[in-house]
Formats: sequence, C-alpha cells, structure tokens
Amino acid sequence: MPLQAQRRPVESPNGMVASAHALASQIGVDCLRQGGNAVDAAVATGLALSVVYPRAGNLGGGGFLLIRLADGRTTLIDFRETAPAAATRTMFQDAQGNVVADRSTVGYLASGVPGTVAGFALAWEKYGSGKLSWSQLVEPARQLAEKGFVVSPYFAQDLRASRDLLGKNAESTRVYLNGGKLFAAGDRFVQPDLAATLRRLQERGSREFYEGETARLIAEDMQAHGGLVRRDDLKSYRAVERAPLHGSYRGFEVIAPPPPSSGGVALLQILGMIEPYDVAAMGTNSAAKIHLFTEAMRRAFRDRAEYLGDPDFVRVPVAGLLEPKYLKTRMADFDPEKATPSASLPAGSPLSGESHETTHYSVVDAAGNAASCTYTLNGLYGSGVTAAGTGVLLNNEMDDFTAKVGVKNLYGLMQGESNAVAPGKRPLSSMTPTIVLKNHAPFLVTGSPGGPTIITTTLFVVTNVIDHSMSVTQAVDAPRFHHQWQPDVVNYEPFFTSQDTMALLRAKGHVLQPRKLYPNDPDAAARYWGDAESILIDPKTQLRQGANDPRNPESTVAGY
Ligand code: GLY
Repeated sequence: MPLQAQRRPVESPNGMVASAHALASQIGVDCLRQGGNAVDAAVATGLALSVVYPRAGNLGGGGFLLIRLADGRTTLIDFRETAPAAATRTMFQDAQGNVVADRSTVGYLASGVPGTVAGFALAWEKYGSGKLSWSQLVEPARQLAEKGFVVSPYFAQDLRASRDLLGKNAESTRVYLNGGKLFAAGDRFVQPDLAATLRRLQERGSREFYEGETARLIAEDMQAHGGLVRRDDLKSYRAVERAPLHGSYRGFEVIAPPPPSSGGVALLQILGMIEPYDVAAMGTNSAAKIHLFTEAMRRAFRDRAEYLGDPDFVRVPVAGLLEPKYLKTRMADFDPEKATPSASLPAGSPLSGESHETTHYSVVDAAGNAASCTYTLNGLYGSGVTAAGTGVLLNNEMDDFTAKVGVKNLYGLMQGESNAVAPGKRPLSSMTPTIVLKNHAPFLVTGSPGGPTIITTTLFVVTNVIDHSMSVTQAVDAPRFHHQWQPDVVNYEPFFTSQDTMALLRAKGHVLQPRKLYPNDPDAAARYWGDAESILIDPKTQLRQGANDPRNPESTVAGY
C-alpha cells in the first residue's frame, strides 16, 4: 500500500528491533549484526532496558518471551514472578478482612520472586544462535550501567513524577533520585551497583542471581524490611517453557501466550467473537465497530475474572474458552443496537485507575526468526524498592493476584478465586506478546504494556492491519478504546471518534469515559495508553517495517 500521507515505518532488509528506548534497540541490532539471532537480540535488548528504562525494564521483575523460529518451531518462555513460600491468600488483608491500601503495591511485601534473569538465560541457552556467549549479551548493559548515559528530559520528568514512590526507600532515593536532589536533563546517570551485579552475572552465570551474592543481598534486604522473599525462594525459582496458543483470524495464524497470562486467551476470544462480522465494512471508528468490539471485550474480561489463573495451581479451561462453538454462544445475546449491562454478568465495582508500566519489544532477524517480549515490574518502578547493594529495582507483581475476591487491583481489574495468592504460584497476567503468521511466515510481531489494556491494544494493532489494511505505523498510531467488563465503561483515547458517533454509542447504552492515569487523577481529558513496539514483515519484499509507538517519546526502531 502507498506509504505517503502517514508516518512511515522504519524499513530495513535484514534484522530489526523495536523497543521503548533507542539505546536498547541499538544494542539489539548490534547483537544481530554480530551474528546473534532474534533470541540473542531479545536477551541483549531486555538486559539493556533494565539499565536505561528502569520504569519497566528490569532484572527484578518478570514476563513472557514468545519465540517463533524460522524453522516453524514456537515456544513461550514464562519467567513470570512467583509468590514466595511464606505468602498467604489473605496477606494483603487486615484482621477484619479488609484489603490494606498499598500493601500489595508499595514496599517489600509487594514483590514476587523475580524471573527475568532466569527467563533470559533459558531463552539464550535453548534458542540462542550459539554464536554469542551469555557474557557477550550482558556486556553492553553492564557498560551502560558502569559508564552511564545522559538523562533525557523525559527520563528526568519520569523520575520526578515517581519521587513519592521511590522516595519511600532509602536505596531507591540514592540511586534514582540522586540522593533526593533529583536528576536533571543532561546529567549522567551511572549505576555502579547494577554494573557490579551484571558483572557477577557475566562471571558466574545466571544462577548467581538466584544462588550467589546477588541472592544473598536481595534476601537480606527483604528480611531486614519485612519482605517475604528468602534465599530458598530465589534458589528454587525456575523459568519454564510453555506451548504457545495458536489461533486464527481471517486466515492469519495468531500465536500468543497461554496462562498464567490471560493475554493470549482474551485476545483469541475477542478475535473469535468479532470474526463473523464484516469489520472492514464497518469502518475504523464507526459506532457499529466500537459497539461490537466493546461487547466482545466485555465478555472476554468477564471470563478472565472467572476462569484464569496459574495453570500449575488451578484448572484453566483454555480449550473450552477458545472453542469456536463456545465463542458463538458467548455472542448469542449480542444485540447490534444495545449494550449488554455488565451487571447482568457477575457483579463488579468501579475502576480505580492504572499506571503506565511494563514494556514490550519486538525483534526479527535476517533469517526470519521472531521474538516478542513483554516484561515488567508491574507498576511504574515496581514496588519502589531497590535491593540494597544490587541496583536491582524490585517488582510489585503480588498486586496481580486477587487480594480479596470482589476487590479491584491496581488496574481496576476484578479478579477471581482462581487467582488467589499461594506459595510458588504465578499471578495472573495480561501480557500479550504476539506473533501473527501469513501463509505460515512471520508477518507481524507486536504487544504492549498497559495492564488490562495490553490485551485490547494488541487487538487493535492486529485488527487494524488485517481488517483495515493499515500500515504498521497507522495501526500503532490509531486511537484506542478499551472495555474490561468491570467497570462497565468504554475508556477512550483522544480523537477516538466523532461526537456524533459517541452520541450513537450512548444511545445504545454505553458509558464513555477517558481513562485515568491513576486513581485520583483529576484530569478529565482523555489520556493515551500503551506502547506497541511492532514490526511487520512485508510478504512481497520481505522488508522489515518497524513502528515505534509515538505515545512513548523515547521508543525507537533500529534495523540494518
Ligand atoms: N503486571 C501487569 C500484567 O502482567 O498484566
């Protein structure tokens, strides 16, 4: 399609990395140029993001890496955090059974056992090219931590905006708030403790994080401050491989993560529910399309709350949820003229807000291997705790568990019994790293941060390309909307549609609301969300076309 009159994708013939930060994307591409494959580059990019993008890039968090090799093999590396052995299902409630504000989001109790280092190591060992050593993949990140990088205006502002959270922890204050003086644009941001941690990982291997000096430092800091993660928790942590979900949408194959992420199930459910309808004919911003998508989202999120959890602990009926007959039945009461009230589904409570967190990056190499990685600390800068002496910022992923059935989490998500806290269990996620195939060849690599909006953001990139023949940049740039069953509202980005279309939607019974950034955000204006770093492979030319997401000013596509 013609690429005039729009933001052009970055095009390159060989390999490409689209990530949240220019330095990380470049490190990934350097890795490809040195003979590494997409998996090597994904590991090097992720390690670099832990240094240059600490709001979400991490060693102290977890995530999912979806791999599709050029020979057709697919796998999912699950490096989601686990609840520590001492965790209990009521640990975030007081003696009266009320959920204690902030306990699952701020400070030491909020952290699960980190999975990132184990996940990257497993991916490199089993699916790396074999041409680059672990130490070589860690080296660019270590150098960035040791020599530092220049603080951009965006990064300075981001740290300033997070000073309440980071300021609660002495080590985070020292590392990220310049001892309380704050960093200004143009300063050099050097992280000697993190550089030393990365050096230990180079010299002693990835298990050092779980069994060596780094493990000792994390566990001692935890113990000293009332956290639950102990050396045994770290020692027993393992990243695992899972078979990805394979679905289809209008002849394209869609590969996405299985539980403990809800992302793949929800994405494939929504695609299955909208497929019988002629979305292309409805047009991108029509009331008919927004209504149809909203109703499918509502139903998928209702199922998410009811059925999804860690499959190692609860039975998740994945096949049943994706069964075409079931999806048809699920939409049997869809009325093109009327919204289905969420209250007629199991009851929920209003939205509390969201933070922008998590990060997604996409990698394609010259041979056609593809890697799609979403990983996170959960909230922005995680629990706000930096484990003393390590430079490692720790996650607040325990908030992704159900603190109490009927009480919403950080993202306003209602969650169910199947996602209750239990020792060693992985909290339910919405991360949706996705790879779409056309004629059995990789076509689109995408995903996003954004809590529950991850699922719908990914949905829009996929359907914008497939249904509306958008270029990858158009698909990423286009305004988004979101419904998550509870609260029963359609959230929307600026310019999502016209006033008269919104009137049509209200007439059908929808409540339209801008999405707030955090619970008490007073700004009534619509906000943007997500950061869908995406790569499309043009089936005719094989050119890699990359789209960074303009919602993140530092996101960058690099290719060669
Ligand atoms: N921590 C956000 C998610 O996994 O969905």
